[in-house]
Amino acid sequence: MVVLAKIISRSVFETSPNNSMESVTTMNNKTIYAASGDKNIKPVRRSNAVIKTGMVLAQEVIHDGKLLCSKNTVLTQDRIDYLKSWGVETVKVYIQDTAAPSKHELIVPAPVNERVDFRSFEKEYSNKINVVKGQLIDICSGAEASVDRLYKVTEDIMGKLEHKNDIFNYIRFMKQSDEATFGHCINVSLLCNLFGHWVNMKEDEIVLLTVAGILHDIGKTKIPEQILCKRGRLTEEEFTIMKTHTSVGYDLLRSMNIQEDIKLSALMHHEKIDGSGYPMGAVGSGINKFACIVSICDIYDAMTADRCYRGRLSPFYVIKTFETQSYGELNTEYLLTFLQNIAYTFLNSMVKLNDGRECEVVFINKQHLSRPIVKHGNDLIDLLLHKELDILEVI
Ligand SMILES: [Fe+2]
Ligand SMILES: [Fe+2]
Repeated sequence: MVVLAKIISRSVFETSPNNSMESVTTMNNKTIYAASGDKNIKPVRRSNAVIKTGMVLAQEVIHDGKLLCSKNTVLTQDRIDYLKSWGVETVKVYIQDTAAPSKHELIVPAPVNERVDFRSFEKEYSNKINVVKGQLIDICSGAEASVDRLYKVTEDIMGKLEHKNDIFNYIRFMKQSDEATFGHCINVSLLCNLFGHWVNMKEDEIVLLTVAGILHDIGKTKIPEQILCKRGRLTEEEFTIMKTHTSVGYDLLRSMNIQEDIKLSALMHHEKIDGSGYPMGAVGSGINKFACIVSICDIYDAMTADRCYRGRLSPFYVIKTFETQSYGELNTEYLLTFLQNIAYTFLNSMVKLNDGRECEVVFINKQHLSRPIVKHGNDLIDLLLHKELDILEVI
């Protein structure tokens, strides 16, 4: 059903009987036909038709010849305030009607944690935390690592997704607590699996890369709990111990009947192409290519996860950080592939800016991936031109 919605006054209009699907809600004390001037609409008192956030415009809002909001825009408080600031007093909106399908369902994507495939992803992911934990502990106790069994963990989780790139969106919603290390291993593995497809790896290489992601931090199982879970900054001595998880991990896997690329990923995923990494300070092409990819996925997951000293960072902030800090340290070709794919994953997503506005990402700037063009109402905001604005979070 369509109504004209009023923001402050309780006076509301309703359509004539021959157009019974429409009525009116207004924004201020005066009531006007700001949307259409539809002569069929007659004033009727209806106290329940005051505008609310979440309503959807059934008709564009034009003021002095300027298009302020297009049809099917979801009304947020910002948008309502924006329309009021232009003196708009009435808008035409859809309201819930049992006889007609809700327009809300057609144009408002469900929140991530209410989506059906997210629910099954979440369930599978939670089950697999314990499976991974069990397998890694067994390997640490000397059991042979099974590539097939480890790969199945990631494959089963991936199988719950309708679109593989939703991984970026979904892993942000997985709560990490006591099992943060194992959740991190799963996340890196899922990202590695996606990465393998982006760079057109052969299927058997994707399997190895995926398992390399699961096993990359296996050495952390030997790091003392008080260092691994310490809140706040590690001392120099603690950091020296923490860094040993790379060589400890390699030693754990060294004698196992698994591919060298997996072992080298555990050893080299903190190496940097400029030689500033650890444990060996390897340079450029001396770093295993699987380890280069694991490294990028590892940093991405660490940055986007909640930490005790800060909340999770928005993917666009992470892209910016990669752009400004990581070229020269990480494999350039892989990094570019990764950042482009992240950025395009969030095209058409809703984001919150640091001024509180909720906008849609409508254009990715290939030269400046962290500064897309976003849309607020009918205003396009080029974040490259508005340095004062930042994307705080994807909502
Ligand atoms: Fe690590
Ligand atoms: Fe890691």
